[in-house]
Amino acid sequence: MANNKSPPDRYALVGHPVEHSRSPLIHTVFARQTGHRLTYELIDAEPAAFETALRGFAAAGGKGLNVTLPHKEAAFALCTEHSATATAAGAVNTISIVEGGLLGDNTDGIGFIRDVTVNLRQDLAGARVVVLGAGGAARGIVGPLLNEEPAELTIANRTKERADEIVARFKSTRLLARPFAELADQAPFDVIINATSAGLKGETPPFPASLVGPRSFCYDLAYGARDTPFVAWARSHAAARAVHGWGMLVEQAAESFAIWRGVRPDTKPLLKQVPR
Ligand code: ATR
Repeated sequence: MANNKSPPDRYALVGHPVEHSRSPLIHTVFARQTGHRLTYELIDAEPAAFETALRGFAAAGGKGLNVTLPHKEAAFALCTEHSATATAAGAVNTISIVEGGLLGDNTDGIGFIRDVTVNLRQDLAGARVVVLGAGGAARGIVGPLLNEEPAELTIANRTKERADEIVARFKSTRLLARPFAELADQAPFDVIINATSAGLKGETPPFPASLVGPRSFCYDLAYGARDTPFVAWARSHAAARAVHGWGMLVEQAAESFAIWRGVRPDTKPLLKQVPR
C-alpha cells in the first residue's frame, strides 16, 4: 500500500446522471473499514463525452472507475481486456486502470446473486423466475441467474424482440421470451425481478397482477430510500416479500473494491443502513 505521504489513490463513478449516487458513501465506508487511503468522485458525462472523461481520468493518474447508465456497453468497447463475466454480459461496470491498458469487469451479476441468495436467503435453484425488462440491467443478471439453475427463466418485455435477443444470446433451454401481455396466462412466479427503468420515472408498467402469488419473492434492481414503485406494486398484490436493490448496490461495490484493492470489505454495516 502507498505510504501516508503519497496522494490517495483516485477512483470515480462515471454515468449520466450520477448526482444522487450513493457509491461515494459506500466506497468511503469500505476504505475506512479496511484502512485504505483513496478518494471516490462522481463524474457526470453525457454519452458523447464518455470516452474523453474516461481517458482524462486515466491520464490524471486515476486507478479505477465504476461505470453506470448509460455507458456500460461503451465501457466494454473501450476496455483492452475483459473478464469472462464482462464478456458474457457485453457490459462493463468496473474498470481497473493499469500500465498500458483498461481492464473491464462486471460485478452487477455477482452482487445481485449475493444479495438475493446470501443476504435475503432466497433460493433460486429450481424456482420459476421472471425478469421484467430486457435492457442492459436485465442482460447483466441473466447469466448469473442461469448459473443458479432455476427451473425456468422467463424474460418478459414490452418490446418482445429485445427479450428474444437475450434468449438468443444465452442459448439455454430454461430461457423463454414473452411480451408482458402473455404473462397473464401464467401461474404466479416464485421469483419476480424488475429490471425495467420505468421506476426511475416514478412509473410501474402494467404488469399483470396474476404474476404475484402469496409465495412470490419480488426484487427491484433499482433502489430507493423508501419503497420503489415496483416494491409498492408488489406489496399491494400481497407478495410474500418485496425488496429494493440497495443490497445489490452494496454487494457490487464490495466486489469492485476487491478487484481494485485485493480485499473484500464487510458489507453488513452498510446493508443495515437502509431499511428494506
Ligand atoms: P437498462 O440498462 O436500465 O436496462 P435500457 O436498456 O434503456 O436500460 O432498458 C430499459 C428497460 O426498461 C427496457 O426493458 C424497457 O422496455 P422496452 O425494451 O420495451 O423499451 C423497459 N421500460 C422502460 N420504461 C418502461 C415502461 N414505462 N413500461 C414498460 N417497460 C419499460
